[in-house]
Amino acid sequence: MKVNGTAYRSVWRATDKSSVEAIDQTCLPHEFRVVRLKSIEEVARAIQSMVVRGAPLIGATAAYGMALAMHADPSDTQLQQAHDVLLAARPTAVNLRWALDRMRALLAPLPHSARSDTAWFEAETICEEDIAINRAIGKHGSLLIRELWEKKSSTVNILTHCNAGWLATVDYGTALAPIYLAFDGGVPIHVWVDETRPRNQGAALTAWELGQHGVEHHVVVDSAGGHLMQRGLVDLVLVGTDRTTARGDVCNKVGTYLKALAANDNGIPFYVALPGPTLDAKSADGLRDIPIEIRDGGEVAKLRGRTDAGEIITVAVVPQTSPCFNPAFDVTPARLVTGFITERGICAAGVDGLRGLYPELWR
Ligand code: MRU
Repeated sequence: MKVNGTAYRSVWRATDKSSVEAIDQTCLPHEFRVVRLKSIEEVARAIQSMVVRGAPLIGATAAYGMALAMHADPSDTQLQQAHDVLLAARPTAVNLRWALDRMRALLAPLPHSARSDTAWFEAETICEEDIAINRAIGKHGSLLIRELWEKKSSTVNILTHCNAGWLATVDYGTALAPIYLAFDGGVPIHVWVDETRPRNQGAALTAWELGQHGVEHHVVVDSAGGHLMQRGLVDLVLVGTDRTTARGDVCNKVGTYLKALAANDNGIPFYVALPGPTLDAKSADGLRDIPIEIRDGGEVAKLRGRTDAGEIITVAVVPQTSPCFNPAFDVTPARLVTGFITERGICAAGVDGLRGLYPELWR
């Protein structure tokens, strides 16, 4: 994707070949900064503090973290330690475990001398695969958007929550990929961007991305979605996922469930963009089986932003004496999901649809 005309990925191997660079998402939308990561500890911190975030990007960055670890010390101890340290960075997005397990399974049987080069190669492969998956999701999803346009013959209004755009992946995004491809193909689109408190990934990241691409949008407060749907101002809800279970329960950024309830009540299609590595076929019941990350209450109590004078400041919005509780994700039951847009096509939400597209995960 392009930032002010220059092509970027969200994470990449640096030209010195011994470090990794990534877009620092904590600085957006006010500043575009690239951060350099040189060790597993720095990678783990970047994931935990959400310098990099979004399920597919967390997985890809962790794979690079394993490569950094093998570059520094290709021993068995280091291999296991890197896996454990990175896995502990964030609990909910299954892509983290998926990428780390894949790296460890590949590297463990190799002689130490081959581990570093192989790890870098595999991390690059994971990135390339992520891009191909997202492009395919974009292709399938854009047909859905085009159909809606052909039916109504006016601008298609899409509501999205959090950021499942190219910043949340290596490139293209998942939920935003269909929007970009349909828009590029001439479909008139307007996007309602949920601000996504407390960290404002919608307001800060999705709005910025859509602006870079020239897609018309408005940022709305998180609680406006139901009202917009009742007024006929939403044709489609399109979100990403951090982990989807075998039966199609969707864990995504907190607030997604409320949008699914409102969409269901108003008969509006609610689609989830689901890349294969985010499908956790070993889990069934999303409420029981998925660990929900509880983040620091300070993220609720405080807001960061830019003053009219251009200064970046943090302000308190909650009384100092009030404790805050900050669950980062929620689970939308499969019954509220119209369908999944995957790299292998679109399917109904439920075990039959998912097993039909990913039979190998049920073997
Ligand atoms: O806490 P975050 O910003 O990592 O959460 C991100 C989301 O919930 C996204 O919707 C999800 O990871 C899908 S990203 C393609």
